[in-house]
Amino acid sequence: MRPDLTTGVADASEPRKERIQVADRRLAGHVALVTGGGDGIGRATAVRLAEDGASVGIATIEPDQAKAAAAECESKGVKAAYSVADLGVVEDVNRAHAELVAALGNVDILVNNVGVAIESPFLESTDEQFDRTMAVNFMAAIRLTRLCLPAMIDQGWGSVINVASAQGILGWSNFTAYSCSKGALTSMVRQLANEFGPRGVRFNSVVPGSVLTPMNEARIAKDGPALLESSINLHIIKRLQKPSEVAAAIAFLASDEASFITGTTMAVDGGVLVKGH
Ligand SMILES: NC(=O)c1ccc[n+]([C@@H]2O[C@H](COP(=O)([O-])OP(=O)(O)OC[C@H]3O[C@@H](n4cnc5c(N)ncnc54)[C@H](O)[C@@H]3O)[C@@H](O)[C@H]2O)c1
Repeated sequence: MRPDLTTGVADASEPRKERIQVADRRLAGHVALVTGGGDGIGRATAVRLAEDGASVGIATIEPDQAKAAAAECESKGVKAAYSVADLGVVEDVNRAHAELVAALGNVDILVNNVGVAIESPFLESTDEQFDRTMAVNFMAAIRLTRLCLPAMIDQGWGSVINVASAQGILGWSNFTAYSCSKGALTSMVRQLANEFGPRGVRFNSVVPGSVLTPMNEARIAKDGPALLESSINLHIIKRLQKPSEVAAAIAFLASDEASFITGTTMAVDGGVLVKGH
């Protein structure tokens, strides 16, 4: 008899932990941690993962947002918890992880969403801007992944999703630190997918389009209708993106429906990366 080459440690048909496999609660039994989950894409993702049945931990900097996001997740009938933390600070990252694991159990879905975008022409940019951007956008992902991985490896199942950006792939101006941090997130995914795929942990990135979130609302309020129009025109689908449209892709990548998808950078961007000019 030929061996079945479609089975392995990460095979969804041999779950390594108890979980309910029902279509509309496909993440039941899992514990997700969403960074920057108080608002924008992170909040939409936390709520979507809760709707899909996961327990959800939110690590974010604004206490009111953290509390409200956790309450919205709980309203979907799952356990939720939050930790107020500045994820650019290593001690806060460690504390947030410890608090959320104590409240919900080991994390097996990690969404590295938190991000700051500091606008600065390169010749005026400072080491402090680069250090802060890399600490929040990239090192928080590295540190949390390191903290969450051992439990994922132990159970032979884990899914890590980084929220990257078209700015990490295409060229723009005045956002070099941001762009470098996002490029690093996609490199991390390719590397760790190779290192930990054989032990059942998948790593993927999503690249959103221009999403209507507080991050973009603030820029549009500052720069006016011209920025709004140019943001819309980035896409083939001529509108801004809803946070829930990014969240849906993240929830898919988290689930066993994506059981053979790893190391990829998935564009969920209304066509930004393939638009002809
Ligand atoms: N909005 C877009 O168009 C867009 C496009 C591509 C990629 N992204 C990426 O998506 C992610 C989410 O973006 P968004 O637009 O939802 O952002 P947002 O600013 O609307 O929300 C980010 C959340 O993170 C929190 N946060 C900020 N700094 C923090 C810190 N140091 N520690 C902990 N929490 C912190 C904020 O309080 C907020 O709740 C970011 O990584 C961003 O780079 C956004």
